[in-house]
Order: sequence, then C-alpha cells, then structure tokens
Amino acid sequence: MSSYIEKVRSVNEKREAPPLAHVHNYGCQLNVTDGEKLKGILLQMGYGFTELPEEADLVIFNTCAVRENAEERVFGNLGFLKQYKEKKRDMIICVSGCMTEQSVIVEKIKSSYKYVDIVFGTNAFDRFPQFVFEIMNGRKHFYDEQGPGNDLSEGIDQIRSSTFKASVPIMYGCNNFCTYCIVPYVRGRERSRSPEVIVDEVRKLVNDGYKEIMLLGQNVNSYGNDLNGDISFPELLRMINAIDGEFIVRFMSSHPKDAGKDLIDSITECEKVGNFLHLPVQSGSNSVLERMNRRYTAEKYLEIIEYARSKSDDFTFSTDILIGFPNETNEEFEDTLKIVEKARYSNIYSFIYSKRTGTKAALIEDAVPYSEKQERMQRLLELQRQITTEDYKKYIGKTLTVLCESEGKGGEGTLTGKSREFIIVNFCGDKSLIGSFVKVKITGARNWAVDGELV
Ligand code: 5AD
Ligand code: SF4
Repeated sequence: MSSYIEKVRSVNEKREAPPLAHVHNYGCQLNVTDGEKLKGILLQMGYGFTELPEEADLVIFNTCAVRENAEERVFGNLGFLKQYKEKKRDMIICVSGCMTEQSVIVEKIKSSYKYVDIVFGTNAFDRFPQFVFEIMNGRKHFYDEQGPGNDLSEGIDQIRSSTFKASVPIMYGCNNFCTYCIVPYVRGRERSRSPEVIVDEVRKLVNDGYKEIMLLGQNVNSYGNDLNGDISFPELLRMINAIDGEFIVRFMSSHPKDAGKDLIDSITECEKVGNFLHLPVQSGSNSVLERMNRRYTAEKYLEIIEYARSKSDDFTFSTDILIGFPNETNEEFEDTLKIVEKARYSNIYSFIYSKRTGTKAALIEDAVPYSEKQERMQRLLELQRQITTEDYKKYIGKTLTVLCESEGKGGEGTLTGKSREFIIVNFCGDKSLIGSFVKVKITGARNWAVDGELV
C-alpha cells in the first residue's frame, strides 16, 4: 500500500494548496471506525479535511446497507454532488462500505451515477491509494468488486473523531445469517483480531487519555471461535479490565444465543465494565424468532436477564427490535410487547423491517401493510416510554458515575453524559469537565434521561 500512498502524496504536494477530503459515514459504529481508518490513509496521502462536500477535492461516502432508507440517503446525496463535480472536474468521488458489496448497487452506480470515480468494498482499504492514483492519472473509473474478503486491515492509524471515546473493533463479519439481515453477505465471515493486538491498542488509547473504550463486533460473543478456541469474549474482557488506568469498557453487539452466564459473570466481576448489556431480542414471539433464524426462544432470552439481575439489581439492558418481519401477526407482535414489559429495558432501538435483496426473508410474500407496522411501532414506543418513565425514578437520590460527553441541550452551563449503566444524565457544570468522569446526584427523571447535580 505504502508505495501508492507516496505516489499520491507527491502529486498532492505539487498542488498550490493541500487538497481537502470529505468523509461521510452512514450506519453503525463499525462503519465510523472504517471511516476513521480511511481518514488516516487520506492524511498520509497529503489530504486535509473539510466538513463541506462542496469544498472537497475528494469525497468518500462510506455506506450502510442494513436498511433501505440509509441507501436512499446515499443516492440522494450522490445526486446532490453532481453539480459540484460539474464545476470541479478533477473532484474524486468515492463510494465505499457495505452497499458496494451488492452487485445491484454497483450496477446502479455504473449506469445512473457515472460521475462516481471509485467504488470499493469493506476490505479494500489497502488498495484504496492505488485506486486514487489511477484516477489521478486519467483512469475513468475504478469499480472494485472483489467481495468482502478475509482481511483484518491492521496497521492503519485512525483519525479519531473524539479525544475521550474510542471504538475498537475486535472482530469483523458475521456467521449467523438471520434471515432478514444483509450483514453476513456484505461483511463476510467472522474474523477475530488477535487478543494481543486488541489489548495493545486499548492500552495505548488509555495512555492517550481515552475514557471510554467501545469494543465492536457484529456478535462479540463469538469472538475467538476462529482463533483455535484459545480465547473467548469473557476472557478478552478480563484482559482489558486488567489494563491500568481510569476508563470504562462497553461493547456491542451480543447475540442472545451465545450470551451465557460466563458473559454476565465477567461483566459483573470486571469493575471497568458497566453493568449494562445491549442484547438485541428482535422479537418476543418464538415463531417469529424461528423464522428469523435467531436460534433462541423468548424464555431462554429472559433467563439471561433474570440471571444478570440476580447478580446485580442495577444491571441494565437495551435492545434492538425488528417490527413487521414478513407476515408477523398481531398476536406475534403482542408477544414482543410482553417481552419488553418483562425485560424492562433502559432503552430500545426499534426498526421497521426493510426488505434486503439476497436475504432469505426477501423471498417471503408479505401481507402486512406498512401502515399497520407503523402503528405497531407507535404502540411499542408508547410502552417503552411508560417503562422508562417509571423505572428512571429509581435513580432519584442515587449518585451515578458519569462520563461527561458534551454541552447539554440547554446550552452554556449545561452538560450531558452517560452513566456506567448507559443512562443519559443531564446536569449543570463547566464545559472543562467534558471528557472526564464526574459524580452526579440524581434529582429528577424523564422518560429518556435523568437530571442531577454535580457532587
Ligand atoms: N430491516 C430492518 N432492520 C434491520 N436490522 C437488521 N436488518 C434489518 C432489516 N432488514 C436491525 C436489527 C439489528 C440492527 C443493527 O438493525 O434490529 O439488530
Ligand atoms: Fe445481522 Fe444477525 Fe449477524 Fe446481527 S447476528 S449482523 S442481525 S445476521
């Protein structure tokens, strides 16, 4: 890779002013990390950065394929770029990430967005400098269609967007093939990074002052399965917990079929890991879970929650819920409401099912109208609102440790952050506290956050 980095750099150094790049990430945190790596490569190639695509000499849309609306936004924004490319002929427009791993998308770009110069996939980072160099040297297009591949893309210095919160991928890809999900097709099979590399990276981040380390993987619970079974995710958590320093460890996502007592034990025993678990349930109906190929039942799922709360009654959970899987009946949806009532999540992320070409569920003829799905979504959100309105009251009078993240919505003098339990906490204080841990005594509760005072 480095020889092409040098080549692009020497072209860029001959320009009157350093060229600017704009990287826009869509979708999940893993994609944000990929975008940070791309920025690292761009910096080495001599680019500065701009938030304004119209100002940029090189634009990357780092895309997401999980739902159709994310794809529509990419195409909308690409359409918008056309006018700038017409004014600035040597602007280089790149589309990367999950969408580009689908041949229908690449064909659409080739036919309707001919001004896109480079299309490259989730594992082509090492070849990206070559693509840029060739476009600079007159090649018309570069469409990389090698598929998701097996790389781990190690050794790239990221340009991190935060100075105190860092995401660290521990594995890439997914082997689960939930029937609605495109991820296994666009991200390939599970590949775990070596535990030594991960621990080294976390140690460096902590030494650099990072206070929150977010470990990322599509299913962190299968971490290590491809490493001769020498290490498991709970063991990795313990290794990271043993690193010296003041920091908190979070992780996502966990697949319930692989989340056992050993995971809960490691969370409660590691003092740097908050008593919090994001555990996507998707549905509370066993028949829907089966059609989704999730490989657990609602009862098994609730056992994990019960076990966690038997170990620590302040254990909080959040979840993802997929509404309107093809032909989900009203009764099946009611089962989702029931599990939400039982689990008492501190937060839910709910999505209306989006048909993804290439997945098994996309082949099912769906009789449920979209308006019905929207109504179900409203019912779910209303229920969750009632739950958090009640449950957040239990924090009143308690003192929580909070990582202060930014100014609050109330403007100057107000701050907001997240507690170890991943609850949003609003309080008043000086913005010099941003990026540090503070103690906040909780004085009030809303349905999405709690309010408090600095101790
Ligand atoms: N439609 C809607 N939501 C989806 N998710 C995954 N695939 C789809 C889809 N086809 C949701 C799941 C997953 C989260 C990251 O995105 O709830 O947990
Ligand atoms: Fe998609 Fe299921 Fe893999 Fe999660 S576990 S990325 S929902 S296939």
